[in-house]
Amino acid sequence: MLKRPFQLGSLRLPSNIFCAPLAGCSDLPFRRMTVKYRPGLVFCEMVKMDALIRHDPTTYRMLDYESSMHPIGGQICGSKPKIAGECAKIIEDLGFDIVDLNCGCPVDKVTKDGSGSGMLKTLDLIGEVLSEMIAAVKIPVTVKIRAGWDSSHIVGPQVTCIAEEAGAAAICIHGRTRAQGYKGPANWDFIRDCKMAAKRIPVIGNGDAFDAESARKLFEYTNCDAILLARGMMGKPWLTEDIYRYFSGEAPKERTGLDYRDVLLEHLDHIISYQNERRSLLDARRIGCWFLRGGKGMRHLRESLNRSKSALEVRKMICDYPWHEIDVTEEQKEEEVCEIESC
Ligand SMILES: Cc1cc2nc3c(=O)[nH]c(=O)nc-3n(C[C@H](O)[C@H](O)[C@H](O)COP(=O)(O)O)c2cc1C
Repeated sequence: MLKRPFQLGSLRLPSNIFCAPLAGCSDLPFRRMTVKYRPGLVFCEMVKMDALIRHDPTTYRMLDYESSMHPIGGQICGSKPKIAGECAKIIEDLGFDIVDLNCGCPVDKVTKDGSGSGMLKTLDLIGEVLSEMIAAVKIPVTVKIRAGWDSSHIVGPQVTCIAEEAGAAAICIHGRTRAQGYKGPANWDFIRDCKMAAKRIPVIGNGDAFDAESARKLFEYTNCDAILLARGMMGKPWLTEDIYRYFSGEAPKERTGLDYRDVLLEHLDHIISYQNERRSLLDARRIGCWFLRGGKGMRHLRESLNRSKSALEVRKMICDYPWHEIDVTEEQKEEEVCEIESC
């Protein structure tokens, strides 16, 4: 059986299908939507260790959550062993169930001080930072990596052994290198190699699980213990439910244009109640773009949203749109409709 409960250190998660940390996306409104479909674990956006230590209010706000969101993980990013333990403790004291170390973020402003995927160049430091975190908390500590800095420096299996030695509860591998960014398909061989290198540590596979079928293939190809969904959830908060149904042999749930409208409006209402006006507008356009990717006839609405002046105007446009005429099964023809700023 592909879907099963997942033991993470002392913590038993209800399923082994998780929702990824997504900087700028997996905020409180996003998580309100995803937890409705019962993932095994959700993550907040990554936060920087330095900002956590200086009690930066914006950083703390990124860690907002509600009791319905448990089990929930906090992810920290930084390369200083001296503050790693204190940061992990802050996450634990905030009530998180898991704390994860980010060794995958590819953006220059993060890697320039050796953090994020910059850590893949200093493997001893990964062990050191993890050890500090593990010593400081009782909750499980995990680590999320890319396969390596570039294709000439693949370090996934080595980091898997280092994480295991340090006592990490799991390791998640995104099957791309830092140099790759998000270009091209994820290479699941990288994940499979980490699984083969692991003696005890559970391996979480990540990369290109966009629907139930690719989720199954990711499990089967890599033999991983759990999977982490990321971009596949943007505009499809029900992806975990789709996967559960598929794995248990149930027929897929047909989703009409009206279903898309209702979920988009629900997400929008969470944004409007949580964010200020300026941020609401930006987020409304962004999520509108996700939800309006797939269907024929949605391009026009998407373009109108990008010219809108307020989140309430976006809401009205969505309400007024003839959703019953939209064919959401129609494949998207355009190359890339939404710029995704990634971490
Ligand atoms: C917009 C965006 C933000 C991301 N933010 C984070 C983050 O905060 N922490 C992290 O570990 N990975 C982050 N990632 C990487 C994803 O968690 C995931 O590893 C990656 O998207 C590959 O999975 P996918 O092919 O299923 O999207 C981000 C990716 C995107 C697209």
